[in-house]
Amino acid sequence: MKGIKKSVIALSLLAAFCGPHEQGSNGAASTAQSTIRVGLYGAFTGSTATFGQNTKRGVELAISEINGAGGVLGRKLELFSEDDQGKPEEAASAVTKLITQNNVIGVIGENASSRSLAAAPICQSRHIPMISPSSTNPDVTMKGDYIFRVCFIDSYQGRAVARFARDTLKLSRVAILRDVKNDYSVGLAKFFGDAFIATGGRIVGDLSYVEGDNDFRSQLTAIKTMSPEAIFVPGYYTEVGQIAIQARDLGITAPLLGGDGWDSPKLLEIGGRSLDGAYFANHYFPDEPRPAVQNFVTKYRALYHQAPESVAALGYDAVGILAQAIRAAGSLDSAKIRDAIAQTKDFQGVAGVTTMGPDRNPIKPVALLHVSGGKIAFKEWVKP
Ligand code: PHE
Repeated sequence: MKGIKKSVIALSLLAAFCGPHEQGSNGAASTAQSTIRVGLYGAFTGSTATFGQNTKRGVELAISEINGAGGVLGRKLELFSEDDQGKPEEAASAVTKLITQNNVIGVIGENASSRSLAAAPICQSRHIPMISPSSTNPDVTMKGDYIFRVCFIDSYQGRAVARFARDTLKLSRVAILRDVKNDYSVGLAKFFGDAFIATGGRIVGDLSYVEGDNDFRSQLTAIKTMSPEAIFVPGYYTEVGQIAIQARDLGITAPLLGGDGWDSPKLLEIGGRSLDGAYFANHYFPDEPRPAVQNFVTKYRALYHQAPESVAALGYDAVGILAQAIRAAGSLDSAKIRDAIAQTKDFQGVAGVTTMGPDRNPIKPVALLHVSGGKIAFKEWVKP
């Protein structure tokens, strides 16, 4: 934190001595050859590091394709990225640096809602469009008219999982185990619970933990006495993997249910076969035959030697939508780019087709995935 602040001050002084910025605060360029600067902030380290790292891969793939095809308005896109270590206060510093030091014309990020909520007011007050790839908490885009996302929101996702639990799995008794310090987790727990109850189900227990915990046995022991048919865990992959192992150790056989925060190559590395029988909601799945998906998966695998998870796909789509908006705006004026993003219609993305709603949230179907035999497979699309 201190180090970052110091270097921000040092850079401002340097910039002041070096004369005018290459790009003004609204991104207006002084030379035809200069690049169009795009910012990315995310957790590249910490317990959610795969979110930031894999979003960056998707973003870089999109930028290299766009640049390879001649760029945008005759100029190349240039990426500036900042690690926020998965901390909301660092997320705020990261976007401040991207906007004031790097003079980016738009910001991609964050993945996690709590971090997006901390950084969005800065993008809004500086009138720099922000596009979150995967923050699903409804409050994120309510921070202002410069704040967008390319994913569904948690009221929708919670309803989708509840409907799936009721209609497909035929469950009537579910316990919830939520991360109380995580806006996403708290919100999704509520939306799921409300929808599950509204359709005749019962929430037999509601327990909590905090990100960074690694012993969940007392909560799970309490849950076991409530004999639920499933446990809904709206958290992130590091804790979910450990919860799965400890639940099985305690003799709980009820499957776990979850949301998009489970999606990481680390989920099965940590939880292993303890996750067998679980279901979770997601934004996309890599085996979908749609050509947009298969082109992306093939290129991504060739570059990075692994299957892209949803944050990579959403990061890729966010850049595509930003580039399309800059073209439509015909300039780097941030208000015009904002207006063009707001008008995004039928964008054929990897993680579905995106049309921005009036509240800057797209409506997209939810992919329900099933863990079995130590693998993740597509189960069904849910459109609640
Ligand atoms: N939706 C989660 C949130 O808002 C973040 C997330 C989405 C993480 C998808 C990974 C994959 O906090």
